[in-house]
Amino acid sequence: MYINEKLKNIWYGCDYNPDQWLEYPEVLEKDIKLMKEAGCNVMSVGIFAWARLEPKEGCFSFEWLDEIIDRLYANGIYTILATPSGAMPSWLAEKYPEVRRVAEDGVRHRFGNRHNNCCSSLVYREKVNIINTKLAERYSKHPGILMWHISNEYNIEDCHCENCRENFRKWLKARYGTIDNLNRKWWNGFWSHTYCDFSQIDPPGDHGEGSSNPLKLEWFRFKNDNLLSFLNGEIEAVRRVNPDIPVTTNFQGFWKVDYIKLAKSLDYISWDNYPMWHSDENERSVAVSTAMFHSLENSFKKDRPFMLMESSPSATNWQKISRLRRPGVNLLASMQAVAHGSDTVQYFQWRKSRGQSEQFHGAVIGHDNTSDTRVFREVASTGNEMKNISEVTGSLTKNEAAVLFDYDNLKALEIAQVYRNESKDKNFVEVLTKHFGALWDYNVGCDFVFVDEDFSDYKIIIAPMLFMMKDGLMEKLESYVKNGGVLVSTFASGVIDEFALSFFDDECYPLRDILGIKAEETDCLYDGQYNTVEMFSEEYRVERYCELAYASGAEVIGRYKDDFYAGMPAVTRNNYGKGTAYYIGADFMQDGYKRIYGEILKDVILPLKMPKSPENVSITTRYKDNNVYVFIMNFNNNEVELEMQLDDYEVLSGRLECGRIEAYGCVVLKIRKAE
Ligand code: GLA
Ligand code: ZN
Repeated sequence: MYINEKLKNIWYGCDYNPDQWLEYPEVLEKDIKLMKEAGCNVMSVGIFAWARLEPKEGCFSFEWLDEIIDRLYANGIYTILATPSGAMPSWLAEKYPEVRRVAEDGVRHRFGNRHNNCCSSLVYREKVNIINTKLAERYSKHPGILMWHISNEYNIEDCHCENCRENFRKWLKARYGTIDNLNRKWWNGFWSHTYCDFSQIDPPGDHGEGSSNPLKLEWFRFKNDNLLSFLNGEIEAVRRVNPDIPVTTNFQGFWKVDYIKLAKSLDYISWDNYPMWHSDENERSVAVSTAMFHSLENSFKKDRPFMLMESSPSATNWQKISRLRRPGVNLLASMQAVAHGSDTVQYFQWRKSRGQSEQFHGAVIGHDNTSDTRVFREVASTGNEMKNISEVTGSLTKNEAAVLFDYDNLKALEIAQVYRNESKDKNFVEVLTKHFGALWDYNVGCDFVFVDEDFSDYKIIIAPMLFMMKDGLMEKLESYVKNGGVLVSTFASGVIDEFALSFFDDECYPLRDILGIKAEETDCLYDGQYNTVEMFSEEYRVERYCELAYASGAEVIGRYKDDFYAGMPAVTRNNYGKGTAYYIGADFMQDGYKRIYGEILKDVILPLKMPKSPENVSITTRYKDNNVYVFIMNFNNNEVELEMQLDDYEVLSGRLECGRIEAYGCVVLKIRKAE
């Protein structure tokens, strides 16, 4: 499946802001020449150009954009056209104050930032609708337009304006029907939190009303739904004019928004990736977490490729330390996205702006205005490799393992006062990353699967810290395992329902039954405190979480060695129906997880199709027709040697001499499957 049949190559390009350079025609002309030199075939245009497109209310100026899109197209470069709602023009902010967000203390934001509109404002929605419609009418039939880039990095920062408060109350009323029902579901007998009427409900904040967990959880959900309806409005405006142009909006990593909700409205998923390469003693942790992010994005729509919409070809300017990408790392990082299912590699940004807050952010063209730079050469050679792997476009990953992930669960962990409050998410992301990292070490591709999806496609589902279990989820997992699935559950699981009420009495019986254990208490450790688990005749260190569980049918694989719970089960395995359920009750260090997954994967008989790779070398696969594309990525700053067991392959990119891959090298192979 191609994102757009017009361009069946890897899309390679940048965020391009000609709107900042209209007074420099020679620069704009030069851009085209250099873009071709760099091997670019696509540019994202107009992302923050509202003030240029509509300099005064109702006065539109499109000629400059006509020229840019035409000129790009005439030179073989397509346009991903943005809707400009990510930054409002000053006339709008001035004339209609309601479009500006209101802070918790009631103070309205002033003009001068981006990503700061109120999503409830009907005026903002209307003005966005007008400019989007105009853009669609003028450009959506242009042969150079590939896609809509809706807004930019939507967020759900709080807005405490009257419109948002009113909408929140309406949303709650629609969800709960009566205030009594809400009081009951929220356990509002606690601290006299009982409301008499929906009109008394205010969004949570730090002005004394911040103690209600369900209030915080529902505010999060409301903000996501409000954003979703804003996004849908934007999409409707452009689709009404031409439904054939696909739409995306660029996500931001993992955590800020419930992207599972947003994804459903989009044709393709895209995201902005700014890993901090070279921040650690080796690249493993960055490589693993980046692989994990890519896998998440790839999983929002499993039947099609995703897009890497932004990345920096060099340093970023906003991270704590602006480290340069080492030679070769730009290609490796770009390939990593493709290796996990992206059909595009795009940069922020084509050209450094001369002024303002991002003037020092990495870009393909710097302030020296030439292509005679190290960064440009890296970008151009990456462009060349993208051409070499053109045929990968449209292929898909096929993973047999998945992590069960839910934003409400993560939010609930953030909100609850429990476990290890010194970490906002109670170390969830770190724990998740350790599980994912163990699979990464074995070159087992891992999707993310969401609560309302079909689980049966996966041989193994890993559900770390599934603190909140929504209605029906336990039963769903039960039938998944009964029918032969392998489930990995951990400490801090099956604790609250979707309203944040604790499971009561035997309500979490299904989970206990699947796992064959009863978890009773959770001991949380301070940093620097450890316990030890004995398993497989060896000792493994555990940190942070030690859950105290009793086996009620499960086979005990590992037991605590120290403290008053020495001898109690820490890792168990339970045969259930045709499947197996594992329980990992303690937070192991990476080596322990690796050891456990070594056993689990062996049992699941996930065919470890690929050769064993040296440390910090990752292997992934994509499939199309009868071909398998294999990406071998060396995240070490030294050459490595692979034990290759493949014979019938063709090298599409990179060098593989006698099984050796250079430092930070990446090799892409094509293996023809037997017909
Ligand atoms: C985000 C934004 C871009 C730019 C980059 C800088 O991803 O979408 O507009 O600000 O960050 O890294
Ligand atoms: Zn608002």
